[in-house]
Amino acid sequence: MALRPWGATPKDAEFLAAAWAEEDIARFCSVPVDHGRDAAAAWIAGEPDRRDRGLALDLAITELGQPEVIFGEVGVTMAEPVKRWCEIGFWLFPGVRGEGRASLAVDALTDWLLNEHGIRRIFARTHPDNPRSARVVERCGYQAAGELADGTIVLVIDQPPPL
Ligand SMILES: CC(C)(COP(=O)(O)OP(=O)(O)OC[C@H]1O[C@@H](n2cnc3c(N)ncnc32)[C@H](O)[C@@H]1OP(=O)(O)O)[C@@H](O)C(=O)NCCC(=O)NCCS
Repeated sequence: MALRPWGATPKDAEFLAAAWAEEDIARFCSVPVDHGRDAAAAWIAGEPDRRDRGLALDLAITELGQPEVIFGEVGVTMAEPVKRWCEIGFWLFPGVRGEGRASLAVDALTDWLLNEHGIRRIFARTHPDNPRSARVVERCGYQAAGELADGTIVLVIDQPPPL
């Protein structure tokens, strides 16, 4: 498995548009209202700017050495720039779920952000009807931190203290 920026192959926009239209991804992730290929291409074109401005980083989860094979996405948005707190999100295409890929991707991005990028806290918000997503981040060391008024479960991981 490998992580790479979106836009590396001409088919990326098609894959992304298909993901935004998938039932569980549309329900449990924040995806644009317009699920079309052009909207996906525009979103991909805007990714370098969002990344350079420190607003968000979204990466395609792919097969090592085969960048055209896309399994899903893992990404973070900057929630509190002063505190350096981020929110993580992720999805996989239905055919490649259940084999631990989401955990590998979340673990890799979490480790890089906390240990090499100065991020102090990462949190995930998971829907109460989506226990799989909570399990994915729990496997990566996130711990339940509480529940929001609408039942959303919040899981958190913090930067380890310096040695
Ligand atoms: C969430 C998602 C990425 C998980 O993908 P995955 O890596 O294939 O996850 P798995 O199917 O391996 O399941 C993860 C864990 O949940 C458990 N699980 C699976 N189905 C479950 C269920 N119905 N109830 C409770 N736990 C369940 C698995 O056993 C596994 O736990 P384990 O580590 O203890 O074995 C994938 O389901 C997805 O893309 N869903 C749609 C988008 C989404 O929900 N994204 C997350 C938004 S926060």
